[in-house]
Amino acid sequence: MDRLAEARKLAIAALGEPPPALQLLAPLDYILSEHFRQRSLCQAVEHLANADGLDREMADAILGFMAFDFGLHVIDEEEDLFPMLRRRALPEDGIEDVLGALSLEHASDNEIAERIVEGLAQALETEGADFPRAELAALLMRFADGERRHLIVENAIVLPLARARLTEDDLRNLGRRMAARRGIDYPENKNAV
Ligand SMILES: [Fe+2]
Ligand SMILES: [Fe+2]
Repeated sequence: MDRLAEARKLAIAALGEPPPALQLLAPLDYILSEHFRQRSLCQAVEHLANADGLDREMADAILGFMAFDFGLHVIDEEEDLFPMLRRRALPEDGIEDVLGALSLEHASDNEIAERIVEGLAQALETEGADFPRAELAALLMRFADGERRHLIVENAIVLPLARARLTEDDLRNLGRRMAARRGIDYPENKNAV
């Protein structure tokens, strides 16, 4: 298998497989794992935008991820991680502006993601005739570009500060909320999966 085919296969596998439930015991690691999957999403989205014709398996994987996992992750951050961090951060951390900018990006990413999901669903239904249309290709590239920058800020600034400031209780609450949001049991001990 050549390098591109291998990368394609890995991206499709990453999009289809959520982090293990046990990682909810370390919810910031779970979020980091989701960020790795979102990097795969960016590669997959670019692949689709630049492809000649519709790669149905890839489009399906992207559609599934963007319609479910991606939205859940944004809610994890908006409703739990960011508010917790605002409560725990010290004034000298200067995190407020960073979180404010990321929240604005969440809102616009959600909107772009909805349009992409619609566009891909339509392309899959119509057998991908003329895929990708210029408008959808531009949207896919815009999403990948913005998302990559977003991930850099979250990985370099938000997660390290969360590791420094959130308490054990915060982390347990965060993990429980993320588990409930996904309809999975919170792993109460290391033996539970
Ligand atoms: Fe994130
Ligand atoms: Fe985010």
